Amino acid sequence: MPNAAAPATEAPDRTGPLHVAIIMDGNGRWAAARGLPRAEGHRRGVDALRRVVRAAHELGVRYLTIFSFSSENWSRPATEIGDLFGLLRRFIRNDLATLHRDGVRVRVIGEREGLEPDICALLNEAEELTRGNTKLNLVVAFNYGSRQEIANAAQRLAREVAEGKRDPASIDADALGRYLDAPDIPDPDLIIRTSGEQRLSNFLMWQAAYSELVFVPIHWPDFDKPALESAIAEYARRERRFGGLAAKTGS
Ligand code: FPP
Repeated sequence: MPNAAAPATEAPDRTGPLHVAIIMDGNGRWAAARGLPRAEGHRRGVDALRRVVRAAHELGVRYLTIFSFSSENWSRPATEIGDLFGLLRRFIRNDLATLHRDGVRVRVIGEREGLEPDICALLNEAEELTRGNTKLNLVVAFNYGSRQEIANAAQRLAREVAEGKRDPASIDADALGRYLDAPDIPDPDLIIRTSGEQRLSNFLMWQAAYSELVFVPIHWPDFDKPALESAIAEYARRERRFGGLAAKTGS
């Protein structure tokens, strides 16, 4: 994603966020509160995701990034990792045609290395099939970690310096930003985390430099269009200054 300090606006009069990113948290607690297995929480999380993709488009969002599987999620029990991978497989197999019909472009960020070949093939298929779509960009962060993403970008720059192709003095925020996973996607205007936790957990840390953060006390399986609307309304009440001065008061 480009210069982290650049406001990600489409038109100067736009009040809603162009790019919303979501940390879909609380599936396990949602399930535990109902005496259900954690897998059921994740399954209901996919239902919530379907609702929210539709709602985001209806509310004028152009980029929706979701944190589906973090680099740190590998520390969970193998059965739960299997459940999450199974849900991703089913989501792409069952929902890709509908997403495509609805004009959604699927993008995937995160490490492909180490993923099973059939998962990589499905992710590639989703990106290839929907490449020409323009209604909503659904950015799936899968096997994603922000520190790893930044370290990979730094490694590419270092290699160019070592090969004599780059002057170290040319390395600035823009240069590094161009080597992140999706440099053409504007930085998120709004990052939502469900379940009441208040941290970024290695999600889009570079891109979040000027994002508004909204923490919602409901678990992800209960998240719906009114909850998204209310987070967007909270965003609209914030004043974004990008390090500058307040627009109205000049103070
Ligand atoms: C956090 O809940 C959620 C996840 C680790 C994964 C999110 C995944 C989905 C919503 C479904 C899979 C996604 C796709 C695209 C198929 P948690 O397990 O950390 O909940 P807890 O903190 O309450 O235990």
